[in-house]
Amino acid sequence: MSDPVFLRACRGEEVSHVPVWFMRQAGRSLPEYRALRGTGSILDAIADPALACEVTMQPVRRYGVDAAILFSDIVVPYHAIGFGVDVVPGRGPVIAAPFATESDLERLRDLEDEDIAHVTRTVDLVMAELDASTTPLIGFAGAPFTVASYLVEGAPTRDFAIIKSLMHSDPALFDRLLERLVAITVSFLRAQVAHGASAVQLFDSWAGSLTRDEYERFALPATQRVLAGIADLDVPTILFGVGTGELLDLMSRAGSSVMGIDWHVDLDAGRRRVGDKPVQGNLDPARCLSGVELGVEAAREVLVRAGNEAGHIFNLGHGVLPSTDPAVLEAVVRVVHEEGKAGVR
Ligand code: CP3
Repeated sequence: MSDPVFLRACRGEEVSHVPVWFMRQAGRSLPEYRALRGTGSILDAIADPALACEVTMQPVRRYGVDAAILFSDIVVPYHAIGFGVDVVPGRGPVIAAPFATESDLERLRDLEDEDIAHVTRTVDLVMAELDASTTPLIGFAGAPFTVASYLVEGAPTRDFAIIKSLMHSDPALFDRLLERLVAITVSFLRAQVAHGASAVQLFDSWAGSLTRDEYERFALPATQRVLAGIADLDVPTILFGVGTGELLDLMSRAGSSVMGIDWHVDLDAGRRRVGDKPVQGNLDPARCLSGVELGVEAAREVLVRAGNEAGHIFNLGHGVLPSTDPAVLEAVVRVVHEEGKAGVR
């Protein structure tokens, strides 16, 4: 059992303890992050490799999690090719000129290594600091549908009205858009792995806004192509979306090695729906807001549903909320390491 527990759990192997990391662990809930970050766009912080490396390392040091996740964002490659993206604090990605017509395809050229030299430099710095023999680095990207929703809507949305209009009224243009996003996503992930990321997560955060038919027609094929495009790299892949309980069986056909289960779904039920592949999840981040004792109690509920069978990576069922007290996450890591049973020999 010499390789990292996180990677072993991703492959469904026995582990010395259940691995844990937290989506959005690198960032706004940590006082040491806020002290370092100052004001200004997060894209500027990401463009500074020394800073981005430090932010990546902060949660590893404080929480003792079993994996680091690169401090970056799903819109980084699109910003890098000049699509015109900013990330507004408290709101999210905003696009100056949203994708609307065929001529906008030209604004989505292939991603070249030079475009993301700042990202791969950050990965290099992290690899020099991290003990990847115990704590590997996770790279990530947005899945094509979720990225498309930002590029087309132009800002975070609740109803996904514009992207749904596009997909149903001009499916051919929608397909060409997703084809561009697949190419860019594959390049972005391959670059992170080439520089040392040992696993990747695809965030299809907003897949849960789709019906089953829509998911199968408009999101699944592109996600499948992304995963096929990195299959030769032989790193574990995690696919995650929010509110995807009705889609988990379809999503698991995309070909990831691990399925992320969001907090709406009981972990044991989720695991059955994905056909028994390793699962990651799924403590409701809101249950980490009421102190250590209640946070630990909620984590124990997840551990019970995870059972004894190998193939569980403990995580939240969506990202860490900004107002989370780091002491709660510290306690959650402790209880998972001490009491988690899935695959523990
Ligand atoms: O997980 C980590 O700790 C690594 C860092 C990370 C960020 N974004 C940094 C960030 C990751 C994995 C992401 C992914 C991401 N970005 C997703 C998928 C994950 C999810 O939550 O479903 C999405 C949808 C985005 C787009 C995005 N970027 C949103 C919705 C926001 C929130 C806006 C806000 O301020 O509430 C961002 C900004 C962002 N990305 C922050 C961080 C730490 C917060 C803003 C800041 O610190 O300036």
